[in-house]
Order: sequence, then structure tokens, then C-alpha cells
Amino acid sequence: MADLSIEVDGLKFDNPFIIGSGPPGSNASTIKRAFDQGWAGVACKTIALESEKVHNVAPRYARLQIQAEGKKNKKNIYGFQNIELISDRPFSDWMDDFKRIKDEYPDKILIASIMEEPRKEPWQEITERCQEAGADAFELNLSCPHGLPERRMGMAMGQNPEIVKEVCGWVKEVSKVPVWAKMTPNVTDICTPARSAFEAGVEGVSAINTILSVMGVDLETLRPQPTVEGYTTPGGYSCKAVRPIALRMCMELAREFPDKSLSGIGGIETGKDAAQFILLGCHTVQVCTGVMLYSYKMVKDMIRELGEFMDQHGFTSIEEFRGKSLEFFTTHADLAERQRIAKIKKTLEKDADWKGEDFVAQSDALVTKTIS
Ligand SMILES: Cc1cc2nc3c(=O)[nH]c(=O)nc-3n(C[C@H](O)[C@H](O)[C@H](O)COP(=O)(O)O)c2cc1C
Repeated sequence: MADLSIEVDGLKFDNPFIIGSGPPGSNASTIKRAFDQGWAGVACKTIALESEKVHNVAPRYARLQIQAEGKKNKKNIYGFQNIELISDRPFSDWMDDFKRIKDEYPDKILIASIMEEPRKEPWQEITERCQEAGADAFELNLSCPHGLPERRMGMAMGQNPEIVKEVCGWVKEVSKVPVWAKMTPNVTDICTPARSAFEAGVEGVSAINTILSVMGVDLETLRPQPTVEGYTTPGGYSCKAVRPIALRMCMELAREFPDKSLSGIGGIETGKDAAQFILLGCHTVQVCTGVMLYSYKMVKDMIRELGEFMDQHGFTSIEEFRGKSLEFFTTHADLAERQRIAKIKKTLEKDADWKGEDFVAQSDALVTKTIS
């Protein structure tokens, strides 16, 4: 049977599955549940020193779902949006939780997801207090796209490479455990802020946080969703629909920074999804929305599925196949040249071959093998 354990930045994970920062890691009870079900690590809901400034609204989630007749299957949900803020729990409660969790689960990895205003003192204070309470690693939330940027936090920091470098540097000055910077996808080139984070000395990056989005407009009330007292604000998009974007960004990060650690996030729901992120260079994978749809126990299936994939290919460890698919990315010009050399007769040689009456069938004929 394949060995799913992996050591990343000196942290020993039983398997590559981590709870992504969000509701599934919002207090000791949820974090313990995750560990009991088999998750190797938890990135807690993002915490800050002053929780009094956090005021959540309800509703704060919206979902996109394929409307299959008579079926209310969660598998039909492919898009999820939230306008949730960071944790509203007092910082001292969190520190008590950290101590209790680490006493009870010394071998599991507790990652403190932290965020602060762009000042050195609070960033260093939160880092020191979390590591004293037992955090095994940090994930710097430089990427939440809603609410916090209004206070120059979250994505407002992650979109500015100079601030990324400054903040990561402050944390690295005092941290004694590994630091990952969580990247926003709401940038033109994700490698630019990642480079700044690495220049400041962080061990790894995690990607992606949610994609800034407008979920839709209710055609009866004409109000955009999720509606709070008649109004809304753009939110963060997650779930299956974002997976291709997350895969692309992880691929770019892995190619650009092959010696750094990478935690893949975005629409992961199965062991097969996880295998794809690992094939594109990720050491670990994180799941947030999936747990909100299918509960903590989903990790058992994910472990089985990833193990089956590895056995099928004869891979005995994660490192044996990590990044294995990266070499198959090339330029479009190179693809065309390869087909020219291979003398492949293409289905639709020229745009002039498209016919109005066979249009859908011709489109179908150009589709590659379907990925589920
Ligand atoms: C309801 C909700 C709350 C979230 N809260 C946080 C947070 O506090 N900190 C953070 O870094 N990311 C947060 N995220 C982002 C997730 O950790 C993750 O990066 C993103 O949702 C993509 O992964 P997924 O498709 O598995 O959810 C949140 C996501 C959701 C859906």
C-alpha cells in the first residue's frame, strides 16, 4: 500500500490533506473533529488580535448548482461564494484552543492562519503569541478578497508585492516555525507576490484564496446575491468551478519556484483532485468548501482514492510523483510543431471547414477526454 505521508518544511504530515482556513477550522471542537476523522493538518480560521472589529452578516454564502430535475444532490453544487470575514472569536480563546489541541493531538499539524493591519508590531505580536501557544506553522492570510481590504488587510496586502515582502519579513524576523504566505488569485501574475514572499524568507506559499466575484442577481427582486438588507458586496468564489484556475496558478508557482513548498487549494473534493494538484507540484492540498458540503469524513474517501491512484501507477510515496506532470506544459507554437512533425490528420483542419448544420457535432469532435 502506498505511503501517503509527507514531510514539508520539517513538518511531518500523515497524509497531504489539510483543512483550508474557513468555517471547518473555526474553534477547538471543529478542529478536533477534523483530526479525529483523519485530516493530517488544519489551517485554522484566520485570526487577528482584535476580534471586536469583526462583524459578520447573514446570509453570507451563495451557491451555484446544476438544476437536475428532482435531484437535490450536493454533487451538483459547483460554485460557492462567501462574504465571510475572519474569526470573530477573542484572541485569548484561540490561544486556549491552540494549547488544548496541541496537548491532545501532538502529532497533528496545527497551522495558525493569521492576519493583521500593515504594521510591524501587531504582526510580530500575533506571531509570537501563536507560536508560544503551540502553532506548528503559520499561514499568512494576504488574500481574503472582501471586507478586509476595506481595512487595508487581506487581498489589499497580497496584491502589493512590496507590502507582501514587508509583512513576510516582519513575521520571519520572529517566527521559529515554518511560514507559508497564502496568495490571492486576484492578480495578473501570481508569481510576482510569491517572489516577494520568498525574498522575505518564507518557506512556502499556499494558493489559491477565493476569486473576487458577483454570484448573480435575483430576477424577482432585482437584488444581487447574497442579499443583506437589500444590498450586497462582491465576495470570494470557491468550490469545483475554481479548480482549473487553481491548478493553473499552482502549476505556474511550481515551475517558477521548484525548491519551495506549495500547498494547493481550490475546488478539491476527491483523492483524484488531490492527485492532480500533486502532479503539478503541490506538497499538500487544502479543502474548505468541500468540507462544508460533505463533512469532515470525506477525507477517508480522499485517502483511499489517492492511495488507489498511487497503487495503480506503482508510486510508493508522494514525492515519487509530485510535479511529474509539469514537464508536459509547453507553448502553443510547440504543440502545433509537434502535430506537424507527427503528421496527424486533424479533425477540423481549417476554420473554413466549420459547417452550420453540423456545428455542435463538429465542436464535440474537438473535445479531449472528459475529466470528472
Ligand atoms: C466560507 C468561507 C470562509 C473562508 N474563510 C477564510 C479565512 O478565514 N481565511 C483564509 O485564508 N481563507 C478563507 N477561505 C478561503 C479558503 O480557505 C480557500 O482558500 C478557498 O475557499 C478555495 O478552496 P475551496 O474551494 O476548497 O474552498 C474561506 C472560504 C470559504 C468558502
